[in-house]
Amino acid sequence: MDATPEIIRLTEVDSTNRYAMNNFAALADGTLVAAEFQSAGKGRQDRVWLSPSRENIYASFVMKNITPPVCNASIIASLGTLQMLRHAAPGVKFWIKWPNDICCGLKKIAGILCENKLSAASSGIVAGIGININMPQSTLDAIDQPATSLSVETGRKFDLQSSVTALADSLCEYYAHYSKAPKELFDLWKQENLLIGKSVEIVDHGRERLQGRIVDIGESGEIFFETGGKILKLYSSDIRIRKESLGEAVLQDR
Ligand code: BTN
Repeated sequence: MDATPEIIRLTEVDSTNRYAMNNFAALADGTLVAAEFQSAGKGRQDRVWLSPSRENIYASFVMKNITPPVCNASIIASLGTLQMLRHAAPGVKFWIKWPNDICCGLKKIAGILCENKLSAASSGIVAGIGININMPQSTLDAIDQPATSLSVETGRKFDLQSSVTALADSLCEYYAHYSKAPKELFDLWKQENLLIGKSVEIVDHGRERLQGRIVDIGESGEIFFETGGKILKLYSSDIRIRKESLGEAVLQDR
């Protein structure tokens, strides 16, 4: 994917992911579908993604030349988002929180939701990206987890149209890089995952809590978690990391 990405700019949609999935075959590889407002923005694990009009980026990137696992799409989307944020706010520190969040300190600034498209007409992955750009503190406070936005972090407002263009350029750059050197991109992504080597507490879906250390991330996106003298291989669909356990782990480095 070497060409400049195509950007489809919508005023309103239920969800850019739904739009990209429903129109997948007709969309060119590397298209970014962006909307000013989503009436039914989707987050991971069936959560709602708050999508007020003209405050943030709500966009979905179409990748047709990508091989499983899905974590490859997540690598491209998270590195692309990270680069866009770093260019927009050079003085602010951002990091990737496994599996799919971009954080600033202990607060989430962007989330990624990858969906697999498998059909006779066309297959690939849609990576949905929500980035808090101009969301004020009063709205961020209504989110059910600590969250921030570019404007809160920098004290200034950002132009949404050019932010979407910058995101599309970054995504395209990493998509091209991935097709040439996937292992290099995977290593880069791992370097940005600050939780590797850190002690955290995880919770499985049965709500059992486990204390341990993330020793590594595998090539399918799973973590290797050392606990009670054993190393467990865990997938993001099966566990979550307790936010309350992140404080010391992350702030040591930032
Ligand atoms: C998460 O839960 O962290 C993932 C959030 C992903 C939100 C984005 S906004 C654009 C795209 N369309 C959606 O409905 N969801 C994703």
